[in-house]
Amino acid sequence: MPGLFDSFTLKQITLRNRIAASPMCQYQAKDGLVTDWHLPHYTALARGGAGLVVVEATAVSPEGRITLGDLGFWSDAHTAGAAAIAKAISDAGAVAGIQLGHAGRKAGCTPPWEGGAPLASSDPEAWQPLAPSAVPLIAEQPHVPRAMSLEDIHRAQQDFVDAACRALAAGFKWIELHFAHGFLAQSFLSTHSNQRDDAYGGSLENRARFLVETVAAVRRVWPADLPLTARLGVLEFDGQDDVNLPESLQVLEWLKAEGLDLVDVGIGFSTLSPVPWAPNLLVDTAAEVARVTGLKTTTSWLITDATDADRAVREHKVDLVMVARRLLDNPHWPRQAARELGVGDPVLPTPYAYWLENWSPQPAPIAPETFKEPA
Ligand SMILES: Cc1cc2nc3c(=O)[nH]c(=O)nc-3n(C[C@H](O)[C@H](O)[C@H](O)COP(=O)(O)O)c2cc1C
Repeated sequence: MPGLFDSFTLKQITLRNRIAASPMCQYQAKDGLVTDWHLPHYTALARGGAGLVVVEATAVSPEGRITLGDLGFWSDAHTAGAAAIAKAISDAGAVAGIQLGHAGRKAGCTPPWEGGAPLASSDPEAWQPLAPSAVPLIAEQPHVPRAMSLEDIHRAQQDFVDAACRALAAGFKWIELHFAHGFLAQSFLSTHSNQRDDAYGGSLENRARFLVETVAAVRRVWPADLPLTARLGVLEFDGQDDVNLPESLQVLEWLKAEGLDLVDVGIGFSTLSPVPWAPNLLVDTAAEVARVTGLKTTTSWLITDATDADRAVREHKVDLVMVARRLLDNPHWPRQAARELGVGDPVLPTPYAYWLENWSPQPAPIAPETFKEPA
């Protein structure tokens, strides 16, 4: 069976290894546009050795932004900056991916380091978020979303399609649709947030309609030979996962029928229920998703040990591993992981590799780090 440092081919795209930089919002954009922050950030992730770098959740519409600092793809003005990121990633030997998202009822907040709360309604830049139903995440919260009309729904779906076209024009080769984390798509699926009584609410088929139609519509414009993937929150940890998981498996069968190639197995976060954090939290769930749906899978959440990551791939529980915070800490973690696994170093850019391979004495390799779970 292939391991973490074997290549992975999906459609016409081959990753040099099975480590992916998981999408990570930076909240450093202005009006959705790339700023000086982004290029060095994504260049570092790609030079560090990951096979795939997925650019952070990029809003398909201004009202779909989590914060005012989200990257956006709602106009052609966004394409040039995004293209520079895609080029930097592929110049460094990684495949350039991007996550397209709409934050739904979780839109319009401050960045986490400013509290992550909804923007005050007196803030001239605040807006009323859109959601399947007028149900806020926190019952007593004044930040009540507006229930979407059918026109709003179709508009949001078209926004995903338009963003996918721009991503293609910008040079991205891999799309991840953000169908997790309680954002718009997940909030259609979850009964915690969807109380509609029309074609987009009620039965599972209706609650899944937004997702299924969106995948079908994006697939029509996204080339058949490029990977179309989605992150779906298959578990909610809300005491109802005996329902959530089977429902998610059914939804994934429908998404696969519409042309989804791979699922990034994630968490729903439709409620504030605590998550029972543990190393490799979703790896076995991803394996079940792969077994039942036949979809290619990946997952993230506390996969921090090289041996665990390699085993998850070798046991065919996932096809690739998404890594987030480890790579913020050390974008060269893939090189360290290769050393730990004794499988040789991933290719480094020549201006780094020359000195590391030809000069002596060499500094001692960095010791493996001990991971601390988040509080
Ligand atoms: C700074 C930061 C920003 C994130 N932004 C996103 C995002 O844009 N989209 C997304 O789906 N997940 C996002 N996440 C979640 C990560 O992609 C990942 O699933 C999570 O951090 C678990 O992986 P880890 O244990 O390797 O950090 C973010 C996480 C971090 C730390």
